[in-house]
Amino acid sequence: ARILVLHGPNLNLLGTREPQHYGSDTLDDINQRLASQAQAAGFECQALQSNAEHVLVERVHACLSDGTAFILINPAAFTHTSVALRDALSGVKIPFIEVHLSNVHAREPFRQHSYFSDLAVGVICGLGAHGYELALAHAIRHLSA
Ligand code: DQA
Repeated sequence: ARILVLHGPNLNLLGTREPQHYGSDTLDDINQRLASQAQAAGFECQALQSNAEHVLVERVHACLSDGTAFILINPAAFTHTSVALRDALSGVKIPFIEVHLSNVHAREPFRQHSYFSDLAVGVICGLGAHGYELALAHAIRHLSA
């Protein structure tokens, strides 16, 4: 089974982007840790970042035929705007965990609504890059059960 990690817009800037909210790890640092964590448990973990909504939507569609069994997704700003990405995840019926680096509930009111949370297996926010590792640990447990 394959685990897919999707990163939404502006997360390619991690490391330099508002480190008070998002920490100092780069996206490569995060993806590399996830890849080795998955590999150690006998799973393959593939990551994709895009600033384009349609690229993320189409990647989710591709999961129907590529064996993806679990998705970790930080939809970033699309969290608060994208019915299209929500509908894609809903359409493929693959379980997913929603991850945010920052505690969105401690920030601007517009960050407190998510189009994803009610569909997600669970939501992790505010734990920085460690949140992805916790989400992956859960995905591994879910797939190994
Ligand atoms: C984010 C929170 C979002 O509100 C924001 O638009 C992001 C990143 C996070 O990881 O904390 O780009 O998803």
